[in-house]
Amino acid sequence: MAFSADQFRQLMRQHPAAVTVIATGTAPNRTGLTATAVMSLSADPASIVCAINRSSFTCAKIIENKSFSVNTLTTHQRELASTFAGQTALTGELRFTPDEWCTLESGAPVLRHAVINLDCELIQAIESGTHTLLLGRVVAGQQSADESALVYVDGHWAGVDHNLATN
Ligand SMILES: Cc1cc2nc3c(=O)[nH]c(=O)nc-3n(C[C@H](O)[C@H](O)[C@H](O)COP(=O)(O)O)c2cc1C
Repeated sequence: MAFSADQFRQLMRQHPAAVTVIATGTAPNRTGLTATAVMSLSADPASIVCAINRSSFTCAKIIENKSFSVNTLTTHQRELASTFAGQTALTGELRFTPDEWCTLESGAPVLRHAVINLDCELIQAIESGTHTLLLGRVVAGQQSADESALVYVDGHWAGVDHNLATN
């Protein structure tokens, strides 16, 4: 019998992942979503890949705008993670608090005080089942906060706040 979606979800719940907000568009038409399916693709050229649900509003907008940012959240930005996951009453442009966002090279919204920001131009969109793999060329980036990254594991928010001793 095939490995079921439920079995898969149960396992992946135990896989800790850094929480990001992926954002696109220009005011007053900015949008974004909370995403953990983000990884480095290559350092040269600097590029990343994100797996975004095809049915999400943000996926369509990134393909239309051809640019997006990836913002790794700190533990102080838990509320933003919930907001951009559609878990609060805030929608659309209302989620972009003035002064919390700026732009770098591509024009996509970039979150101030995130652990890191990656500003990307979309280079390819590959559909695979329910999701689209969005490949982004990193055109700018920065470290914005020296704080613990927000992690999602077993259905809970957690923090990465200590290093293990090396010996
Ligand atoms: C911790 C967490 C991680 C998530 N990771 C992803 C992800 O990697 N890709 C994705 O498409 N959706 C992910 N989601 C779901 C989206 O954030 C959610 O469906 C969002 O409301 C879609 O918004 P939109 O349709 O307005 O673009 C995640 C949600 C949470 C709470």
